Amino acid sequence: MESVLFVCSGNTCRSVMAEALFRRLLRERGQASGRPPVLVSSAGLDAVEGAPATELTRQVLAERGIDLGVHRARPLNGSLVSEATWIVAMTRRIRDEIRRRYPHKADRVITLGEVTGAPVDVPDPFGGPIGRYRETADLLEAHLPDLLRLLEGEGSQGRDGMRIAIGSDHAGFPLKRVLIQFLEEQGLAYQDFGATSEASVDYPDYGRAVARAVAQGQFDRGILICGTGIGMSIVANKVRGIRAALCHEPYSARMSRLHNNANVLVLGGRIIGPEMAREVTRVFLETEFEGGRHQRRVEKIEAGDGEQKGGDPA
Ligand code: RB5
Repeated sequence: MESVLFVCSGNTCRSVMAEALFRRLLRERGQASGRPPVLVSSAGLDAVEGAPATELTRQVLAERGIDLGVHRARPLNGSLVSEATWIVAMTRRIRDEIRRRYPHKADRVITLGEVTGAPVDVPDPFGGPIGRYRETADLLEAHLPDLLRLLEGEGSQGRDGMRIAIGSDHAGFPLKRVLIQFLEEQGLAYQDFGATSEASVDYPDYGRAVARAVAQGQFDRGILICGTGIGMSIVANKVRGIRAALCHEPYSARMSRLHNNANVLVLGGRIIGPEMAREVTRVFLETEFEGGRHQRRVEKIEAGDGEQKGGDPA
């Protein structure tokens, strides 16, 4: 984690509080750990350049011992996005809009709610009484430490600290919603890499983003869904370090973990029903790799065929 950019609508309330509270968190843990510095900033999707923070934002931060100093709102732009390692949107609508505007950065745009136990959307206190501002500040204060832990790769508040990357194309989108609900019920931390609707998209774009994030160690497991699961399997298995398993019943899901140490589960949204998909996902996430002779076999997979033409460098 080198830089974190918080984004809300106007950059006068939520993202300002998030920036100030996150800075303080970093300061508090910085002295002791000696970790490299992290840049923290904020912007607004519809911000009016130079607008000050609202008085109530300033006030609730002061109540928490933070002097905001001079704050001038900034509209989100391409260079802010390019400079950010992680972009934390305050709502799903804001996240999706950033991903739409800057698709090359889509896998780096998250909401607080999808990676911590915070509500899916952080409520906007703008125009409300101070109580609304206090609620928002409390919520951010409670969940920003989880974000920090996650971005530092120390696990999240999700059950067992497991982090899951999930993605689909348009054909897999309805089943992805079912599985996201399942992950939320289970208290598992996840990041949705898109697609964001049933409008036609190309599955390799989403499959590769999820597979790379898992291969790079940002997530423990991946879940990919397209119409049949076949396209997503082919894409994911071309990323080095990925062992993607297309499973439509629990036995295969279990064996893919026990024997193959599969790290990505692939499902066909047009093949499998929601209840079976939930069960397959549950088994996949709960089963541990058996190791032993299977470790040797997995190592032979990872050694490749000695040709290694092209392939993915990830
Ligand atoms: C999209 O129509 C479909 O081709 C895709 O979802 C997937 O099934 C590809 O393998």
